[in-house]
Amino acid sequence: MQTSTEFEAMALKLGDTVPDFTADSTEGPIEFYKYIEGSWAILFSHPNDFTPVCTTELGAVGNFLPEFEKRGVKVIALSCNDVVSHKGWIGDIESYTPGAKVGYPILADPTRELAVKFGMLDPDEIDSKGIPLTARAVFIIGPDKKLKLSILYPATTGRNFHEVLRVIDSLQLTANFSVATPVNWNVGDKCMVIPSLSNEAATLKFPKGFETVEVPSGRSYIRLTPQPNVDWECLSTTPQSDVGVGILHFLSIFVANSEFFLAPECKTMHFFFYTW
Ligand code: BEZ
Repeated sequence: MQTSTEFEAMALKLGDTVPDFTADSTEGPIEFYKYIEGSWAILFSHPNDFTPVCTTELGAVGNFLPEFEKRGVKVIALSCNDVVSHKGWIGDIESYTPGAKVGYPILADPTRELAVKFGMLDPDEIDSKGIPLTARAVFIIGPDKKLKLSILYPATTGRNFHEVLRVIDSLQLTANFSVATPVNWNVGDKCMVIPSLSNEAATLKFPKGFETVEVPSGRSYIRLTPQPNVDWECLSTTPQSDVGVGILHFLSIFVANSEFFLAPECKTMHFFFYTW
């Protein structure tokens, strides 16, 4: 019988290089570093196979797979069961969520070796043998194999994968531009100039400019700039045929007016449309 200390591990911190491992999965053995090489990746864990909330989450991720692929993110799930159990469960997941295909690997971790390595275990959730189950952990890993974001939910609360896509959009944007994204930001919204950038440097970095918001303290730390990698002007500045411009203009008005009705992941299409 393993003691609880055998399941304890140092939690991964933001900026840590994630550990490598080899493990069996529903798509055969996975060498983690090889699998994620050069890509963004999301590794997310589940308490147990054949449990209701997990079934809904894995189906939702199946439907979101094209959105992860569009962002160049490799998707890997983990649950504390063996591959035979995982494979038996996939039919239920796909039947519960219409249209869902579990087109990503589910890692097997019956001994909790990986869960301990990644600090995913929830001491409050115990299986029938008295062994801790994994919490609902989300690890978003950059192409440099460093941990960029982690979220930990208890077994009783399912995750919001719209939010996971939203944070990936923010992480990928802020990795490349000197901006931060404000509360409830979505692709196409204004961004904030990071505090460490001087006004002079910001003027050079952001050709579209930035506005400084006046606040009672008189300090000039809230500086807004259009999202740097969305070219809102391209429709009027790129030479096109008159017919082409007309069609694009009509579509742009339609898409812009639809914005409030689009789910966050669809806004990426909006954004691609504008950068096209
Ligand atoms: C679930 O996935 O529904 C679940 C798993 C473990 C504990 C509670 C809920």
